[in-house]
Amino acid sequence: MKGKFIVFEGIDGCGKTTQINEIFKWLPESSLISSNSSIIKTREPGGSALGEKLRQLILSNDIDNAPSSLTELLLYSADRTEHISKIISPALKKGDWILSDRFSGSTLAYQGYGRNIDIEIIKQLEVIACQGEKPDITFLLDISPEESIKRRKNQIPDRIESEGINFLRKVNLGFKKIAQDNNWIVLSATNNQENITNTIKRILIEKLS
Ligand code: TMP
Repeated sequence: MKGKFIVFEGIDGCGKTTQINEIFKWLPESSLISSNSSIIKTREPGGSALGEKLRQLILSNDIDNAPSSLTELLLYSADRTEHISKIISPALKKGDWILSDRFSGSTLAYQGYGRNIDIEIIKQLEVIACQGEKPDITFLLDISPEESIKRRKNQIPDRIESEGINFLRKVNLGFKKIAQDNNWIVLSATNNQENITNTIKRILIEKLS
C-alpha cells in the first residue's frame, strides 16, 4: 500500500518544526502506521543531498549575489524535483510516511504572492516538479506577520527571512488563500503548543485511519 505524505506550511516562526518533531515521536505508537513502515522527516528546501547544497545557495545572505526572483523560483523547483525523485516518491512506493516541513504551497505563497511571479507559471513548474505526487494532508500553522517577527528576534535571519514585514504580510495572505482553495487544515498557531499537537493528532486519526 502507498505511504502517506503530510505537509506542514506557514510563515517563518510558526512552529512547524516543533509540531513535526512531536508527530514524528507519536506516530509509531499511534494506531495509524504499520510496523514495517518507516517515518521520514524531511524539509524544503534541502530534503535531498543535492537539495541541501541548493538550500545553502538559495538562503545565503550574500546579498550582492542574490538570485533574481525567477532564478529563485527555479532553484526552489529544482530542489523539489530532486526531493520528489530521490526521497518522496521512493518512500511512498515502499509504504513509508513522510512528514515534510514545507512543500509546493510555500512556492506559491513566497514566490507567487510574495514576489509577484505569475501564479500560472508557478503552477506549471509545480506539475513538472511534483511528478504526480501530492500531499494527503497539508496543515497551515497560522500566525500573524508581527508574531513571526517577534518570535525570531534573537535569530540571525536567512535571506528570505530578511525581507521584512510587508513581504511577510503578502506571503501570509497568500497562504490563507491557497489553504482555502486547496482544503488545507488551518490551525491557529498562537495557541498553546501542546493543544496544537493534540489537534493535529486528532485530525490525522480522523482523516488517515
Ligand atoms: P525554513 O526556514 O522554513 O526552512 O524555509 C526556508 C525559507 O525558504 C523560508 O523563509 C521560506 C522560503 N521558501 C520559499 O521562499 N519558497 C519555497 O518554495 C520554499 C520551500 C521555502
